[in-house]
Amino acid sequence: MNKLLEAVIENNRRWTKDGKVATYIPELGKADQDAAGVCIITLDGEEYNGGDYKTKFTIQSISKIITLMLALLENGRDRVFSKVGVEPTADAFNSIINLETKNPQRPLNPMINAGAIATVSLIEGETSEVIFNRILNFTRKITGNPDININEDVYQSEKKTGDRNRALAYFMRSTGVIEQDAEEVLDVYFKQCSIEATCRDIARIGAMLSNDGVLPWSGERVVPRNIARIVKTIMVTCGLYDASGQFAVEVGVPAKSGVGGGIVAAIPGRMGIGVYGPALDARGNSIAGIRILEELSRELDLNIF
Ligand code: DON
Repeated sequence: MNKLLEAVIENNRRWTKDGKVATYIPELGKADQDAAGVCIITLDGEEYNGGDYKTKFTIQSISKIITLMLALLENGRDRVFSKVGVEPTADAFNSIINLETKNPQRPLNPMINAGAIATVSLIEGETSEVIFNRILNFTRKITGNPDININEDVYQSEKKTGDRNRALAYFMRSTGVIEQDAEEVLDVYFKQCSIEATCRDIARIGAMLSNDGVLPWSGERVVPRNIARIVKTIMVTCGLYDASGQFAVEVGVPAKSGVGGGIVAAIPGRMGIGVYGPALDARGNSIAGIRILEELSRELDLNIF
């Protein structure tokens, strides 16, 4: 399997040339354009790696599945889905247009920026610091990695340049979707996006979801089966934004991308996969990452449909 993964990386690394590292968050622009890595964690505890699987990157939008799980655990589905819908968009991940034009006036789903900001506003805690620490501890648990932390430089960079996210949050405050102080909510959101991880860490999150909410390495249940199921479903319909339909046709697995270059995939009953390649396509998804997952889907017959 390690041989297969090395071959898949080498077959697909060339795609990085067709993409671009994100620069709208200036600190992300420092990533190595040509990097490509993969890690597979199977449900019987085996781990396989290839390419730049040891490289750390910020998880960015992959954090949206983590905060969705926590929000669902604390609030239940009715409250969460009264604030944020579950319908895909055909618009960019940071689009603002649907916040005003759709009825009810709430974000279409928890995977776009607006929906993730609304989702994280539901997580309980006295201060933004307390709330973020709960997210961080949950992330450490579901990755089995107590050393997970934020990348301070990326966090500062996001905070400094996050005006689009501020616009989304303040608009949602004006319509009552967000009830708390917008800056406090945004601070947690910027931090969750700046959590740093490797292919292995995100593959473990995928493995937990593919195992219906139970950590395969310890047998501990971290979320109920129905929450794991909701999250995987939304990953299929919305996980790659306005490229989710094409990804479902080509790869056919629940997945979530981030502009740091990571993509996590959860193959029900089989494995979690983490891929990394910071060069992105026009929709903000890892260009090599998608190709790597396409090839793995063919080679290992992963398509769930
Ligand atoms: O808020 C942002 O724009 C980034 N922190 C996260 C966006 C993201 O990862 C979109 N993913 N493909």
